[in-house]
Amino acid sequence: MTRLYKNIFILTGAGISAESGLSTFRSENGLWNNHRVEDVATIEAYYRNQDFVHQFYNDMRPELFNAKPNPAHLAITKLQKEYPADNISVVTQNVDTLHEKAGNKNVYHIHGQINQAVCLNCGHILETWGDVDTETVCPHCEVMGMMKPNIVFFGENLLCMDVVERQLRQCDLFISIGTSGVVFPAAGFVQTAKYYGADTMEFTLEATANNYLFDKHIYGKAGETFPKFVEELLSENI
Ligand code: OAD
Repeated sequence: MTRLYKNIFILTGAGISAESGLSTFRSENGLWNNHRVEDVATIEAYYRNQDFVHQFYNDMRPELFNAKPNPAHLAITKLQKEYPADNISVVTQNVDTLHEKAGNKNVYHIHGQINQAVCLNCGHILETWGDVDTETVCPHCEVMGMMKPNIVFFGENLLCMDVVERQLRQCDLFISIGTSGVVFPAAGFVQTAKYYGADTMEFTLEATANNYLFDKHIYGKAGETFPKFVEELLSENI
């Protein structure tokens, strides 16, 4: 069957996980949990006080472990079942694993994952839902105290950018779900996709910072608006 779109790029942010009970970053009592970004999410903070930063992410891990995907995540799975799955990529700024729990494929975590730690000595990625601290030993190089939560801190490079840039040039539909569009480079992805000719749509609660770059705005809870859109897209009724 010929589809309206060939390649779909889905960018997600904290808003897609809100209906799974996870706080967004810029809401009251947001994900930083009333900490200053400078104290918990910069590479300088990490080197200044590793115990404190480890504790912050250790405290966050159980909630993210227990969180369940919501209808917006599941709608992506449905879309990927109906389309050739490789033609739909999911690029997320979220460190939770709700896309994977929902069965989404081609998921790229550009800001890292809460269930991973990276060894700063050898680059090994350790998958773990357990605590990580300055006494954690890398299972690969066996050096102690070099495992950092695999979260991209301000001042570090984003992950998977080679794939992301290729997909941005290829996509003919760019969809943004639940992101405020204030943190770059992700906030600039829509501009690249648009430059290469993609239609652009956003699903959020309210107007975002880069709102003018989107052709269509669907305001409301993503768990309600996005599954409805997927139905319409699959029936080519848009
Ligand atoms: P924000 O907290 O900045 O924005 C969340 C967005 O989701 C807002 O635009 C809300 O309107 C929208 N939203 C909230 N609930 C929603 C719902 N139920 N349905 C649809 N939309 C909803 O979160 P992000 O844009 O993800 O970076 O933040 C970007 C980055 O800032 C994060 O990845 C993090 C932070 O600094 C790092 O950790 C490196």
